[in-house]
Amino acid sequence: MSFSTSPIELEPIETASRDELQALQLKRLKWTLDLAYYNVPMYRHKFDEAGVHPSDLKTLDDIRLFPYTTKQDLRDHYPFGTFAVPMREVVRVHASSGTTGKPTVVGYTQGDIDRWADVMARSIRAAGGSPGDKVHVSYGYGLFTGGLGAHYGAERLGCTVIPMSGGQTEKQVQLIRDFEPDIIMVTPSYCLNIADEFERQGVDPKTCSLRIGIFGAEPWTNAMREEIETRLGIHAVDIYGLSEVIGPGVAQECIETKDGPTIWEDCFYPEIIDTETLQPLPDGEEGELVFTSLIKEAMPIIRYRTRDLTRLLPGTARSMRRMDKITGRSDDMMIIRGVNVFPSQIEEMILKVEGLSPHYQLEITRDDNLDNLTVNVEVRETDCSADSRERMAQELRHHIKSLIGVSTRVQVHDVDAIARSQGKAQRVIDRRSL
Ligand code: DLL
Repeated sequence: MSFSTSPIELEPIETASRDELQALQLKRLKWTLDLAYYNVPMYRHKFDEAGVHPSDLKTLDDIRLFPYTTKQDLRDHYPFGTFAVPMREVVRVHASSGTTGKPTVVGYTQGDIDRWADVMARSIRAAGGSPGDKVHVSYGYGLFTGGLGAHYGAERLGCTVIPMSGGQTEKQVQLIRDFEPDIIMVTPSYCLNIADEFERQGVDPKTCSLRIGIFGAEPWTNAMREEIETRLGIHAVDIYGLSEVIGPGVAQECIETKDGPTIWEDCFYPEIIDTETLQPLPDGEEGELVFTSLIKEAMPIIRYRTRDLTRLLPGTARSMRRMDKITGRSDDMMIIRGVNVFPSQIEEMILKVEGLSPHYQLEITRDDNLDNLTVNVEVRETDCSADSRERMAQELRHHIKSLIGVSTRVQVHDVDAIARSQGKAQRVIDRRSL
């Protein structure tokens, strides 16, 4: 596959020296800490309790003096208690659903919406998009930040947006065939669902007009990238973000390197911390990703614990640092008889076995006080014999046992047996708590 580098020039900050970038970060960090301290009672209490004041920040490393913020902190001030501006200046709210309890609400001023569109436009350009491209947006529109975030960014770059949203898979395929978009923005799991629908309609998805897919909102492996690139004949690049920090567009993988998302460090300050000691870790070491916003007005966020596990890596295509692909969320880590397992590790093993499809779901049960992990996965071809299925199951069990170190049950199902996602896939069903 080939790609042409976008003819548009990069913003100067994307190639600025580290010194220049850090000077800007320090200035913006001071501004953010002041805004949080003086306008949000929650931050004032937290800083006072920790005995720190925004004026204590002299260097970037001094951010370590300030307390972390968690999802619980935001829930405790539901719905609008962490906003730093009067409600009349908030032009939009979004919310992330989470699995239990109240959603986390986030707010934006007009300036925030503008800057979000800017970082999303920058992201789409880094993904290989240019003005004039047609962008099919299949991220959900609504309280979820995916649809509208992608939408405003694509418009800002000068693209034609097709605001399809999630669901109506047959129609997704029809519009892709008729409107001939260049780019699709969608979760990787829903993209596979769309590719299946192409085949169901007797059309090879490789023949469609798409050139690039911008995939995020859920963990996906490089094995999945290969699967999607081969099946659709496109470049698949990773986009990362979360509502609390702005939405999609916190980090974007560059098409020319495909080596993990570049963090837009002029707007979001990253740290990695040890999940047990909560101490910051040096670049290169894996831990929990923590973000402080540098440009947000309505809802500044200080040292937000994302629960996402990754590491910080030096810049390649840009001078800003990158993050490695997310291994998973600390909440998604399964502990099976003492072994830590992430769904992404199982995904990688599944895609090593010829004949197994990337549609899978993991089930945890407790039988006789022992935890069991069952991998439910589909075959690729309907006419697959019982013998072949048994061979695939054995091969998968063997890979998982020898490479991850955990014994599993594997059930190989027919095509279409596993529930399809229309947004974020639900990879784990924990029957212990049901
Ligand atoms: O998922 C924002 C988004 C929309 C990102 C569209 C990319 C594309 P939330 O619903 O708040 O926001 O969920 C955020 O999703 O903490 C991660 O656990 C996960 N996530 C997002 N992007 C990635 C990614 C959006 N590229 C949560 N890889 C985050 C792995 C991701 N996980």
